[in-house]
Amino acid sequence: MVLKRFGVSVPEELLEQFDEIVRQKGYIGRSEAIRDAMRGYISQAELESEQAGTVASLNIVYKHKPRLMNELMKAQHDAHVNVVSSIHVHVSHSHCLEVITLKGDKHAIGKLADKISGLKGIEYVRLFNFVLPESEESDHGHHH
Ligand code: NI
Repeated sequence: MVLKRFGVSVPEELLEQFDEIVRQKGYIGRSEAIRDAMRGYISQAELESEQAGTVASLNIVYKHKPRLMNELMKAQHDAHVNVVSSIHVHVSHSHCLEVITLKGDKHAIGKLADKISGLKGIEYVRLFNFVLPESEESDHGHHH
């Protein structure tokens, strides 16, 4: 493990509060306490991004076959995500394009996309994920 040094500027009061906790917790020095704090910060951020709500657009192209249409319908009904809308375009005599808008858990959306990809007859699948923007109401918090 390579250790890197870096300099950080912080308000004096913040550093005093930090040092007080470092002492209370019995750390030998600031460095290990900062490493622990960074690990906690990272795992918290990972957890938040894991749970983040997502809107997604799932675009699929397939040959129109009744059996596949039924399986597509079933996959969407069974998925634990909110199917917001579904647009079906008959792009040619044989082929259809479907744009499915989804809202919900990132993991569940990924599972539905995988399930659809695996269906026989699906020729093209693209999933676009977007992290939900914060709503206006929740945007009045204190910013640093
Ligand atoms: Ni069609």
